Amino acid sequence: MASIQFLLNNTLSSASDLRHSFSGLNGSFNGGRAIACVKTGVQAPGSGNSGKLGFSGASKEVMEAEGRVMVGTYARAPVVISHGEGCKLYDAEGREYLDMTAGIAVNALGHGDPDWLKAVVEQANTLTHVSNMFYSIPQVELAERLVSCSFADRVFFSNSGTEANEAAIKFARKFQRFLHPDQKQLATEFISFSNSFHGRTMGSLALTSKEHYRSPFEPVMPGVTFLEYGNIHAARELIQSGKIAAVFVEPIQGEGGIYSATKEFLQSLRSACDDAGSLLVFDEVQCGLGRTGYLWAHESYGIFPDIMTLAKPLAGGLPIGAVLVTERVASAIKYGDHGSTFAGGPLVCKVAVAVLDKISKPTFLDSVSKKGQYFKELLMQKLGGNPHVREVRGLGLIVGIELDVPASPLVDACRNSGLLILTAGKGNVIRIVPPLIISEEELELAAEILLKCLPVLDKTKSK
Ligand SMILES: Cc1ncc(COP(=O)(O)O)c(C=O)c1O
Repeated sequence: MASIQFLLNNTLSSASDLRHSFSGLNGSFNGGRAIACVKTGVQAPGSGNSGKLGFSGASKEVMEAEGRVMVGTYARAPVVISHGEGCKLYDAEGREYLDMTAGIAVNALGHGDPDWLKAVVEQANTLTHVSNMFYSIPQVELAERLVSCSFADRVFFSNSGTEANEAAIKFARKFQRFLHPDQKQLATEFISFSNSFHGRTMGSLALTSKEHYRSPFEPVMPGVTFLEYGNIHAARELIQSGKIAAVFVEPIQGEGGIYSATKEFLQSLRSACDDAGSLLVFDEVQCGLGRTGYLWAHESYGIFPDIMTLAKPLAGGLPIGAVLVTERVASAIKYGDHGSTFAGGPLVCKVAVAVLDKISKPTFLDSVSKKGQYFKELLMQKLGGNPHVREVRGLGLIVGIELDVPASPLVDACRNSGLLILTAGKGNVIRIVPPLIISEEELELAAEILLKCLPVLDKTKSK
C-alpha cells in the first residue's frame, strides 16, 4: 500500500518525466525479474488534476487511429495502457492503475511475473509453433499436468474459451452418436441457463443467454433451451426427455453477474444427466484455475463434470483454451473429428505449465481463499451500509457488488482515481477479478477507492 499511496500522492508534470528502465522482452532479466517496468513515481489519475483525465498527443492519436482503422466491436475505456508490473498498469501518460480486471480474469500471475516471462523467453528461443502435424513436448507435458490435477483423463487444446466450448459441443454430439449409432432420434440438443456466457462463435453464442448478443446473427445453432439458473425441477424435466446431448453450466457465472450455483442444483444436474445419458459440461473458463481458491470451482461443490472447458488464465495472458474430458467421452472422438492449426502450440503450452505449477500449489490456493474472504469482509464493512449496495458476493477472488443503479459511473470514477474494475450482469454489478497474486494492502486500497467513489452513484440516481 505504501508505494501506491506514495504514488497516489505524488504528482508528475508530464509523461516525459518518466524514466523507463525498459529492455524489452528479449530474454533480458535483472536478478530473475523482468525489467520491463516503470521504476519511478507516476501520477495516478485524479491526483493533482482535479479528476480530469488529460491525454498526451500519443494517447489521443492511438484512440483516434483506433476509431479510423478498427472494426468498432469494443466500447473501450478511454485509456491507452502502455505496460504493467505485478497488479499495476500504466497508461501512456504514466498514470498508475491498480488492476482489478486482470485482463478479464486472465492475468492470474499479474503482469510480468518472472517465472512466466522466463518460460516465454526460453520456449520462444526453442520452438514456438509446429502445428498438430507433429508431436511436441510442452503440449504433452501440459496435458499430463491437467490430467493429473483434475477429474479428466484426456485433454483437447483450443485457442480461446469460445473455441473450447465449440469443441465441447462437437464432442457431446459425437458422444451421443457414437453411443447410439442405430438410434433414429439422437440426443442432439443442449440446455443452457439464464445469465450464462459461453462465447461469441456460433455454437457458443447459441448457448449464451443474452438475447442481444445472439439476435443480430440468427440463425445460430438450433436446439438450445434456456432454463432459469438454479431451477432444478425444469432442468430435470427437460433432461429426462432424452433429447439433451449436454447441459452447459458455469458453477459460478462471471459475465452474468457473479452468481454461484447451489450444491443442490449442480448435484441434481449431475444425477439427471447420469439417468438420461446426457453429458454435464462445466464451463470454468472464468471461474476455474484457482480463482475461487480451489483449483477448479466445482471442487468446492464436490460434483464432477464429464467435460470441463478452460481458457482465460491458463497461460497467464497468452491465448489458450482447453477441453478436459473423461475417457468415456474421449472414446467417441476419432482422428479428424476436430482440430486447430495453432492450438496447443509449444510456446503457449510451456507457459501454461509454468502458470499451472504456480497456481496449483496448495499454499497459493489457500492464499487466494484467505484474500478473497478478507476482501469480501472489507467490502461489506466499508460499502455494506451504502443504500446503493444490494449485495457483495462471490468466492475467492471473483467478487461481485450488486448495485441498485447502473455501475458504469462508479467504474469511471474508480478509473479516474486509479482503480480498474469491470461490470457484469445487466450492468448493475461491479465485477472484481484481480490478479490472484494481489496483496492485502492492494485489496485495502481498492476498497478505499471504491468507498471514496461511491457518492457518484447518488448523482446517477438523481438524474
Ligand atoms: C464462462 C465463459 N465462457 C466462455 C467465455 C469465452 O471466452 P473467450 O472470450 O476466450 O472466447 C468467457 C469469456 O468471458 C466466459 O466468461
